[in-house]
Amino acid sequence: MIEFINVSKVYANGVTALRDVSLHIGRGEFVFLVGPSGAGKSTLVRLIYREEVATRGIVLVDGLNLGRLRRRDVPFLRRQMGVVFQDFKLLPNRTAYENVAFAMFVTGHTRRQIRRRVPEVLELVGLAHKADALPSELSGGEQQRVAVARAVVNYPKILLADEPTGNLDPETAWGIMELLVEINRRGTTVVVATHAQSIVNALRRRVIRLEGGRVIGDEPQGVYERAI
Ligand SMILES: Nc1ncnc2c1ncn2[C@@H]1O[C@H](COP(=O)(O)OP(=O)(O)OP(=O)(O)O)[C@@H](O)[C@H]1O
Ligand SMILES: [Mg+2]
Repeated sequence: MIEFINVSKVYANGVTALRDVSLHIGRGEFVFLVGPSGAGKSTLVRLIYREEVATRGIVLVDGLNLGRLRRRDVPFLRRQMGVVFQDFKLLPNRTAYENVAFAMFVTGHTRRQIRRRVPEVLELVGLAHKADALPSELSGGEQQRVAVARAVVNYPKILLADEPTGNLDPETAWGIMELLVEINRRGTTVVVATHAQSIVNALRRRVIRLEGGRVIGDEPQGVYERAI
């Protein structure tokens, strides 16, 4: 589903963020990306989302070579993905419902499809009762739930999350991570870059470890700490 073949990324300022990274993430997997600050986790996520393009090597998503992708085909690629960031980036003057509905509206869904689907995802993230609340009326954890709802409303094949719990207290963070696990259980491939050590250690999922732009570990039921 996601394949990196000898991928390097050098930013315009000369910083090498990824060095010769090769990895494969299969359909339906749940993967943590861990590693110290600056290791290249966000860069790896951005390459999958095609926010950045590899300097060397090949990135394939569903067989599609992202380096060869035409600009006009990028929206098609992104439609198959949902993304969640550390800062929720919700529309401040729109309710929870409208924030989620907007993601369907811009992808050309009918009002009828939107009316049917949005309550369903709000229910999934446990926010059916807050549908009419503005982001400013929601807690950080609730706002992040809206962001997750928005990311999955169009049934993405892949959910990318870059430090989705970075701004949340440990308990709220757990709630968000459990939600990602549930979304994965329903069939979506989930990739999470995170520093949430205790959650990674408790969930025992696949852990890909980056350091200095290289993959230095890849364990099927890994932990956050580097194995000695
Ligand atoms: N847009 C950019 N332009 C230039 N250099 C960048 C850019 N984005 C990231 N970098 C550099 O690339 C390296 C990898 O950064 P990246 O953001 O991928 O790390 P990270 O593992 O996500 O770190 P963190 O845990 O702090 O989020 C760092 O040295 C960073 O300074
Ligand atoms: Mg990062």
